[in-house]
Amino acid sequence: MTGKRISFDQLRSRRWFDGASMRAFSHRGRLRQLAFSSEDFDGKPVIGILNTWSDLNTCHGHFLERAEQIKRGVLQAGGFPVEMPAITLGEILMKPTTMLYRNLLAMEAEELIRSYPVDGVVLMGGCDKTTPALVMGAVSACLPLIFMPAGPMLRGFWNGETLGSGTDHWKYYAEYRAGNLEASVVDEVLAGTARSSGTCMTMGTAATMMSVAETLGLTLPGASSIPAPDANHGVMAAATGRRIVEMVWEDLKPADVLTASSFDNAITVDMAIGGSTNAIIHLVAMAGRAGVDLPLARFDEISRKTPWLANIRPSGEYLMEDFYYAGGLRALMRQLDDLLDGSAMTVAGIPIGDTWADARLHNEEVIRPRSNPLGPDGGTVVLTGTLAPDGAVIKQTAADPLLLKHSGPAVVFADRADLDARIDDPDLPVTADSVLVLQNAGPVGAPGMPEWGQLPIPKKLLEAGVRDMVRISDARMSGTSYGTCVLHVAPEAHVGGPLGLVQDGDTITLDVAERKLDLEVSLDEMAMRRAEWTPRKQIPGRGYVSMYAAHVTQANRGCDFDFLHAGPEIPEPEIF
Ligand code: FES
Repeated sequence: MTGKRISFDQLRSRRWFDGASMRAFSHRGRLRQLAFSSEDFDGKPVIGILNTWSDLNTCHGHFLERAEQIKRGVLQAGGFPVEMPAITLGEILMKPTTMLYRNLLAMEAEELIRSYPVDGVVLMGGCDKTTPALVMGAVSACLPLIFMPAGPMLRGFWNGETLGSGTDHWKYYAEYRAGNLEASVVDEVLAGTARSSGTCMTMGTAATMMSVAETLGLTLPGASSIPAPDANHGVMAAATGRRIVEMVWEDLKPADVLTASSFDNAITVDMAIGGSTNAIIHLVAMAGRAGVDLPLARFDEISRKTPWLANIRPSGEYLMEDFYYAGGLRALMRQLDDLLDGSAMTVAGIPIGDTWADARLHNEEVIRPRSNPLGPDGGTVVLTGTLAPDGAVIKQTAADPLLLKHSGPAVVFADRADLDARIDDPDLPVTADSVLVLQNAGPVGAPGMPEWGQLPIPKKLLEAGVRDMVRISDARMSGTSYGTCVLHVAPEAHVGGPLGLVQDGDTITLDVAERKLDLEVSLDEMAMRRAEWTPRKQIPGRGYVSMYAAHVTQANRGCDFDFLHAGPEIPEPEIF
């Protein structure tokens, strides 16, 4: 608890509803159109419920029911719940990539909260970018918030095998391309992995970011691990509704929760769960909103001292449902208590150390104890070198260990269309030792930095039994993907980074142990190539994409818009 307590008169929403101005009469009176009278809202905090439900977001199908359960909790605690739909970012169907729209949802969340009479908010998200987007926007809006995670879907099954979303799709699709499976089998596998509401149930971006949100202290204890269809998920929704009302009275704001320590905690957990590489971009962006500086070097420092404990696909064997039964995130955090700052505050009003104090570890195969880690250091590694002066990342736990130190000749694709046109060409001069390079797939060049970083293995190599190669791009990769994929190369090719100057046959050296990624080309030769270089494509001159391209930062700075980083407080709206 912060010890603060505000009075009814200090509620932000009273600026809309109190007094005898024409506007105040209008604000009170027009709520009758929705069948609300003063009994509904007088003396009560107004709680906005930002709901990212949509028929086109495959992971948020349960959000209509959960919103009602949150409302029930708000009413029980003496608040006035109002549902506020926000643009959803459905990872499966939204094109070209949800990442293009993460900042749009963040802007919408911030302005929705600022412009309406709400005193606190519940953020309903989970499918990949919805979590960072809602948190980024709500942190900038500076009102009490709780994040209510969508929760993972149930395990997948097909033909007696347990399947993970994304991860097993890639695996079976590679076998289909190699000619080892029929298309109908791929269809059956997909059906077997989409059994319920909820996010992907591997440790993809969604599960990673929900875990990160809990570790940051932004959810109630244990919220991030509960499978979406479990009745306990609805119980958590109601508890979240009750708690946000209390938070308003306590005036417990994001700035009380989000500190340098809480971000270090989040990075530590990200490393221990073998989290998605996308988490790095989102954590940098969220920290930027909270005014916390998070250089990529901090991730590497923490990665080197954090053991990998969560045995979840794509890096491990099990799925998020197993993780929940094994004790969930609280049990994992308890294993790390000497590496975490237990005094960091949470939205529950207690230090995060108190949230894991009574957590029990039920399955030491799924969540490894510290005495038996899956690996000595974290899942994601930050690389720098002549090919990535501002950094790049690789998920070492999802890569072939034999490729973590590798030199090979580049096979370059100028953009995604070039990749699709030539990757399966029988005459492509590629061997298993080649390094596949994809250019112009970054934040500006794609645009939106799509998840194209798991470049497909050329068909002729698949048929020869090759299942992994070194692949390098300025793109991202789905958190459910795997392989020796170097991602987020900064600066990206489109803005003149060295990646855009790589040519076929250049030698590229990857050395994960040394954290190095080098292009073995002389400085003179690079200067000549740079003098002749021009951007590959024109960015549209109007619309959201043109604003995005003008203001998005590079991956090492979180891909937020430069004008949305923490800065001077924005005044409350005038009410006339
Ligand atoms: Fe929604 Fe994976 S598609 S979390």
